[in-house]
Amino acid sequence: MDLRAYLEARRAEVESALERVLPQPPDNPAVLADAMRYSLTAGGKRLRPILCLASAEAVGGDRAMAMPAACAIELIHTYSLIHDDLPAMDDDTMRRGRPTLHVVAGEGMAILAGDGLLTEAFALMAREPRTSDAAVVARKLRVVGVVATAAGAIGMVGGQAIDLSAPATLDADGVRVMHGKKTGALIRASAVSGAVMGGGDDDAVAAIDAAAAEFGLAFQIVDDVLDVEGASAELGKTAGKDAAAGKPTYPALYGVERSRAMAAECLDRATAALERAKLADSRLLDIGRWIITRSN
Ligand code: IPE
Ligand code: IPE
Ligand code: MG
Ligand code: MG
Ligand code: MG
Repeated sequence: MDLRAYLEARRAEVESALERVLPQPPDNPAVLADAMRYSLTAGGKRLRPILCLASAEAVGGDRAMAMPAACAIELIHTYSLIHDDLPAMDDDTMRRGRPTLHVVAGEGMAILAGDGLLTEAFALMAREPRTSDAAVVARKLRVVGVVATAAGAIGMVGGQAIDLSAPATLDADGVRVMHGKKTGALIRASAVSGAVMGGGDDDAVAAIDAAAAEFGLAFQIVDDVLDVEGASAELGKTAGKDAAAGKPTYPALYGVERSRAMAAECLDRATAALERAKLADSRLLDIGRWIITRSN
């Protein structure tokens, strides 16, 4: 299977799994269920769940075991986008090719839909995969901790706090740390969760973690570059906002060309980490190449 077919096959599996995870009316008030669904089903590359499944496969595991964590992480990612777009944060009006949720449902409902998606993610990981096998229960608990830490104050939320309060003059180290937290942490957690649920040993999990940290930084560098070079229609979100808002980004610090070269260097370091653990012939490096060559 070529990469495009592989990504499409995994994306379709993720889409159909996501269809089943959201709480439905009447238990979930219809107005909230609609808001959660609006953002979750708007498309999106599904990079994080695909990376989670590919990591389970890379360690020789059953990707069905990783699907609940994969879906949970996509719920958390979608929540982060809803909140990132709020007027109090990046104040964006387009996301995944649609008007942002706060534009169509109001700020209050957008905040609540984000809250609902975040919380539901943990309910899902606690519930599934349904098992009484103590070894699998232990993996689930480990993954809940990994994802919670990545999503929280020392991970994504912390990174967003730096982004919100950072002066445009944040130095190179500061921007790398911010990117690692706001975007890298959840991408790392996606890969680690998949590797753990797939039954990977400590060395494999560590190598996948190291590679995914590089993927995460590369992903946000490319996101910053696409904000400069991309077109809104293809991105599904408004281009050119970072410079207009004076955000500290890689292109602002280094220019576009050097930023792209730095994303490629991340992929080189990821390759080395995976080669050391004999995991380089998995799909993970293909996903890394997709991250740095993507156009949306
Ligand atoms: C956008 O993430 C937000 C960042 C962390 C840079 P994606 O580019 O993965 O967004 P979707 O899921 O494809 O919409
Ligand atoms: C967002 O970074 C990171 C998140 C945790 C959502 P950006 O603010 O650069 O993401 P986009 O460009 O709006 O997708
Ligand atoms: Mg932002
Ligand atoms: Mg934003
Ligand atoms: Mg961006």
